[in-house]
Amino acid sequence: MIPSSLISFSLIALVLIFHSIAANNNNSHLIQQTCKNSSKTDPNISYKFCVSSLQAFPHSSCVKSLRQLGLISINLTRHNITDTKAYIEKLLKKKNIEPFVKDCLDDCLELYSDAIETVGDAIKDYKAKRYADANIDMSSVLDAPTTCEDGFKERNDDVSPLKKRNKDAFQLSAIALSIINMLSE
Ligand SMILES: *[C@@H]1O[C@H](CO)[C@@H](O)[C@H](O)[C@H]1NC(C)=O
Ligand SMILES: *[C@@H]1O[C@H](CO)[C@@H](O)[C@H](O)[C@H]1NC(C)=O
Ligand SMILES: *[C@@H]1O[C@H](CO)[C@@H](O)[C@H](O)[C@H]1NC(C)=O
Ligand SMILES: *[C@@H]1O[C@H](CO)[C@@H](O)[C@H](O)[C@H]1NC(C)=O
Ligand SMILES: *[C@@H]1O[C@H](CO)[C@@H](O)[C@H](O)[C@H]1NC(C)=O
Repeated sequence: MIPSSLISFSLIALVLIFHSIAANNNNSHLIQQTCKNSSKTDPNISYKFCVSSLQAFPHSSCVKSLRQLGLISINLTRHNITDTKAYIEKLLKKKNIEPFVKDCLDDCLELYSDAIETVGDAIKDYKAKRYADANIDMSSVLDAPTTCEDGFKERNDDVSPLKKRNKDAFQLSAIALSIINMLSE
């Protein structure tokens, strides 16, 4: 004999599982749809990169709207560039650092520091639905990794220790920018 409480428990468990599957599908649907739109309108955004970075965010499973997703993508950009700034500081502390590389890193540190301040402005503007201002902020944030990487390109050999990080920061801000533009339409 199976106790009836066990049966009800199993039923409740099943219902909960189906609910969470439905909710997850819904959420990933929003992320996929948004990333499809972003990568279509901006060739610099890779669909795969967009989906995997937005889904990796711990709170992304409770996202219900594009507006929430936009804030998450700006937040993600902030975390990413804050970490890269700390990484640059760490690189600058190394001994025997090449003077050319050191000059580039000094420039990058300044660019990233400014970008962190600007992404803070972007969050304020976004929360107040000042999308035009948030667009200007994020456009300026997006320039930082590009300008940083360009510094290293002044010499032909491949010396940038920030290549991947700059690329990530560029794409993350491009995604945020594209969501801001979707919302302001
Ligand atoms: C799925 O999303 C739509 C709107 O995009 C919403 O109306 C619906 O309640 C959501 N369903 C679940 C299970 O979250
Ligand atoms: C994506 O684009 C389609 C068509 O352009 C539009 O119907 C849909 O609402 C957009 N989705 C988001 C999340 O902006
Ligand atoms: C893509 O990025 C390049 C520089 O990396 C830029 O010149 C170009 O305007 C960007 N395209 C779009 C659609 O944003
Ligand atoms: C920055 O974002 C990229 C893409 O989501 C990720 O692969 C990378 O680990 C992130 N870096 C940090 C330090 O958060
Ligand atoms: C943004 O990040 C902050 C911490 O840096 C966190 O407290 C907040 O919940 C995040 N917001 C969203 C929408 O992810």
